[in-house]
Amino acid sequence: MHSPSADRPIGVFDSGVGGLSVLAALRAELPQEHFVYFSDAGHGPYGERNEAFVIERSRAITHRLIDTHGIKALVVACNTATAAAIARLREDWPQLPLIGVEPALKPAAAATHTGQIGVLATRGTLASAKFQALYERLAKRATFHLVACDGLADAIERGDAMQIDALAASYLRALGPLGTDQGQIDTLVLGCTHYPFVIGTLRRHAGLNVRFIDTGAPVALHTRHLLAARAALRAEDRKSAEQSAKIDAHQGLLALEGSGALDELHAAALRWLTPPAPL
Ligand code: DGL
Repeated sequence: MHSPSADRPIGVFDSGVGGLSVLAALRAELPQEHFVYFSDAGHGPYGERNEAFVIERSRAITHRLIDTHGIKALVVACNTATAAAIARLREDWPQLPLIGVEPALKPAAAATHTGQIGVLATRGTLASAKFQALYERLAKRATFHLVACDGLADAIERGDAMQIDALAASYLRALGPLGTDQGQIDTLVLGCTHYPFVIGTLRRHAGLNVRFIDTGAPVALHTRHLLAARAALRAEDRKSAEQSAKIDAHQGLLALEGSGALDELHAAALRWLTPPAPL
C-alpha cells in the first residue's frame, strides 16, 4: 500500500501560462497524480526581471504551495525561475523533491546533423550562471546560437497573435540561416516553457525541415523517477509504470491558482491542457 502522503498533490509553477506546457506532459506521464498549478501572471513575465526578484517570487510561491496544499514535490516549470532560484529553493526546503527545467542543449547536440543549434530563451535564462555552465559544458559538441526573445513570453501571455508573429520572425532571422544544408541551423531549442504554445508560428517562419526540441516530456519522466525512488507515487501510477501502459483518462485532480486573472488562466488551461502536437 502506498503511504497516505503519496496522495498529496505535486506543485507546478511558472511566471504565467507557459508552465501549462510542462503540466500537460506531467499529466500525460502521471495521469493519476493530483496537481496544483500556480501562475504568477500578476508579477510576470520574469524573463527581463532581475534575479533577486525572481528568487523572491519563487520562494513566496513555494511557501504558499506547501502551506495551503502540502505539496509532496515541486516542478519549477519555468526556465528563468529554475536558473535564478532553484539552488536557493533547495537550500530552503532540503526535504522537498524539486524538479527544474533548463534549455535542452544536450538533446539538441545529440540530434543536430549540421552542428548548428539555435537557442530561444529569455534574457534572464541566457544571462544566468546556471545556463553559462551548461553552455560551457556542451560548447565543444556543437555551435550554439543564442537569442534572447524579449517580449515573446509576454505576447504569448496576452495572446497577441500579431506581436507573436512579428517577434518570432525577427528572432529567427537574427539567428542566421535555418535549414539542413551545411552551415545552417537545423535544430532549435525552445528554452522557455511558453514557446511550445506558438510552435505553429515558429515552424512557419523556420521552415519544415528544422527540428524543435522542448523539455516537457523529459521533465515529466524525471519527475516520475524521482517520486518512484521515494515510493511517493500514487499506487495506480506505480502500477501503470510497471506495465508501461499510459492511462488516457486523467483521474488525478487539478487545482489552478495564480496572482493574476483567474478566468484567463482557466481559459488557457482549457485551451492548452491537451498535450501540444508532437515536435
Ligand atoms: N516560461 C518562462 C520560462 O520558461 C518564463 C517566461 C517569462 O516569464 O519571461 O523561462
